[in-house]
Amino acid sequence: MGKRTGWGRAALGLLAAGLLAGCAPGGDDGDGVEATLDSLWEARLKGCGECHGPPPRLVDTGPDMTTQTAFLALRDSTPDDYPGWERAGNCIIPLIDPENPGNSLVITSLIEEKSTQLVNKEGCTSAFSSHETLGETLHPTNDADLIDALTTWIADGAQDN
Ligand code: HEC
Repeated sequence: MGKRTGWGRAALGLLAAGLLAGCAPGGDDGDGVEATLDSLWEARLKGCGECHGPPPRLVDTGPDMTTQTAFLALRDSTPDDYPGWERAGNCIIPLIDPENPGNSLVITSLIEEKSTQLVNKEGCTSAFSSHETLGETLHPTNDADLIDALTTWIADGAQDN
């Protein structure tokens, strides 16, 4: 037990150091997640392909998200490009709209506030609730850095970086 407490203290120290570094002007987006595809991929996006990919994955007729290149291809497609895809939502906006995070399904299907804004504006059904049921959403309270980095990456043009 004593040893555990020691490790806990060390971890807290590291966390504090990380937070301070994250606050430095001109630094990254905090917590080591940067607004680049490489960083976002490592931090979160590589998990998307567990469901969004070729069979036998959960959502197997929609866009492939199993590789960085495939994920990037979302920039050039909308849900309409996947006629066989049984979608939970019917908001027809691009999957990723470079420079416009609020008009990107990748954002509105993961972040509740963005989902609500889209639903109120377009009067459509969002797939946010599917991710919520599966525990796959992003929450400002515990994923603030990730949300920032993902939003910034799209706002910066969703580049291959
Ligand atoms: C545990 C399985 C699972 C994971 C992991 C997952 N999703 Fe989904 N996703 C779903 C399901 C189920 C749906 C609802 C069916 C549909 O609309 O395709 C969905 C829907 C979507 C949609 C379509 C939204 C719409 O309006 O139709 C997008 C975009 C999406 N997910 C992106 C992502 C991204 C990006 C990640 C990774 C951060 C991710 N998903 C991780 C299961 C998952």
